[in-house]
Formats: sequence, C-alpha cells, structure tokens
Amino acid sequence: MERSVKTLMDLSGRRALITGGAGHLGQVMAAALMECGAEVLIADLTTERAWEAAERLMAEQGGRARWVGGDLEQPEGTDDMVRFVEREWGRLDILVNNAAFVGTSSLTGWNVPFDEQSYESWCRAVQVNLNSVFQVTRRMKPFLMRSEAASVINILSIYGICGPDLRLYEGLAMNNPAAYGAGKAGLLQFTRYCASCFAPAIRVNAITPGGIFRNQDPRFVERYADRTPMRRMAKEEDFKGAIVYLASDLSAYVTGQNLVVDGGWTVW
Ligand SMILES: NC(=O)c1ccc[n+]([C@@H]2O[C@H](COP(=O)([O-])OP(=O)(O)OC[C@H]3O[C@@H](n4cnc5c(N)ncnc54)[C@H](O)[C@@H]3O)[C@@H](O)[C@H]2O)c1
Repeated sequence: MERSVKTLMDLSGRRALITGGAGHLGQVMAAALMECGAEVLIADLTTERAWEAAERLMAEQGGRARWVGGDLEQPEGTDDMVRFVEREWGRLDILVNNAAFVGTSSLTGWNVPFDEQSYESWCRAVQVNLNSVFQVTRRMKPFLMRSEAASVINILSIYGICGPDLRLYEGLAMNNPAAYGAGKAGLLQFTRYCASCFAPAIRVNAITPGGIFRNQDPRFVERYADRTPMRRMAKEEDFKGAIVYLASDLSAYVTGQNLVVDGGWTVW
C-alpha cells in the first residue's frame, strides 16, 4: 500500500548536516528539517556561531541540534565535521551544502563593477562556494552510503543559471560579483555529476533561491519586485517546502534536479 504524504515527509531518526547552518537560510532550513523529526548538525565558521544557532533552534523549534565549527576557506575546514559524524552518528542521511562566501560590501575587489573585481576575492569565493562543496561531499559520501535514504541538497542561486540584470544596481552601492555566479553555475554541474555517480544509493539535487528580502535599499527592492512575476522578493519561509521535499521520501524518485524557487524571475 502507498504511504501517506505525512509518512513520506517524516524525517524521524534521520540525521542532517547543514553547512552555513547558522546563517539566515541555514537556520530556516534546519528548523524545517527538525519540525519533520530530523536531528541536525549545524556547521559554521566558528564553534561559537554554530553553537548559538543550535541553541536557538532547540529553544524555538524543539528537537535536537548539534554544532561544529570550521572555516571552509581553509584546507582543514571540514576535519571537525567529519570527526563529529564519524564519532557521534556513524552515518549521514541528509547533507545540505548551503555555506557561501557572500562577502561584505567593504571587502576590496568584491562588491564592485567587473573591472575592479580582484582575483583574490574571486579565489576566496570559488574556494567556499565550489571547492569546499567538493571536499564536504567527498568526505561525507562514506557516511551517506550507510543511509537507507541518503539525500544531498546543494544551494545555488539564480545567478548560477542566468546573468545579472545590472539595471537593478544602477546608482546603488551594490553589485554582483562574477565569482559568485560562476561558482554557483559550477555547483549545478557538480549536482548533476554526483546524481549520476552516486545513484541509486544517494540522491543529489539543488535548490535555486531567488533574491531574499533582507532590508536592502528600497530602490533595489522595488526594481527587483518589478522584474519578478510574483512581484516581490523571497522570504525565508518560501524555502521550507523545497528543503523538506528534497530531503524526504516525498522525492524518493527525484535526482539530479534543480528546484528553482524564484517567484518566476527566470521565466522571462
Ligand atoms: N540571500 C539571498 O538572496 C540568496 C539568494 C540566492 C541564493 N542564496 C544562497 O543561499 C545560501 C544561504 O545564504 P544566506 O542568504 O542565508 O547567507 P548568510 O550569510 O546568512 O549565511 C551563509 C552562512 O555561511 C557561513 N559561511 C560563510 N563562509 C563560510 C566559511 N568559509 N566556512 C564556513 N561557513 C561559512 C556564514 O557564516 C553564514 O552563516 C547561500 O548558498 C547563498 O549563496 C542566497
């Protein structure tokens, strides 16, 4: 007999690692997985940052959250998460590659027009947004292989599938660095590569979020909404359904796909 939708989305007993889990989207996705019964491991830049997020999640959401620190720009950045999964869990059911170098506007050579973008900021972004995903996935694969329902979810961006509309940034202290989109585009191909190589044991999919409202300059928000069929920027809860769908047995026959959650940004 077929299982009910409620049963298919039940993540009780599943263990999920979320990189960048202390960030805005990371915490919302962790909360959604915990609501469905998963235990989560929040991995982020420092142990303290990950611990604070895990404590907040347990207080607000209930359920169990663990934490681990590690800078994914560094070669040893994945060591502690591997040690944790090996020692505490022995297997992994869900891996969300969500951490990203988003930079800050004060970083030299980053949030500026193309001619001013630096090779150094390019390398740092590609290191976190692409190279480290290879490293995390490669090192977690043995633990994912021990799961009965393994699912990897890579978090991309609309700028990995289309070029930036520079009219959005005209006259504003905002920009769209080339390295960000290039890294995300590479991650889409890596998603397909892994889906092919890891099947049927491990499913590998992607979520492509559109721009999320974070109190940006009102002129930017208005231009963005004008250019989006759904007439607004995304909000964090827009991604809860996508993460639960791809993490759970609701999507047991789905692999190698990119679920675009962008309010229609990419349809025109
Ligand atoms: N915010 C948006 O509009 C938007 C749009 C499309 C896609 N995305 C993607 O969604 C994901 C989450 O973004 P967010 O908006 O929540 O950003 P965020 O900055 O709130 O979270 C990113 C997290 O990654 C962590 N991180 C950054 N560098 C790291 C490193 N070197 N080592 C370990 N952890 C590191 C940060 O500490 C942070 O907690 C990213 O992959 C981002 O590219 C965001």
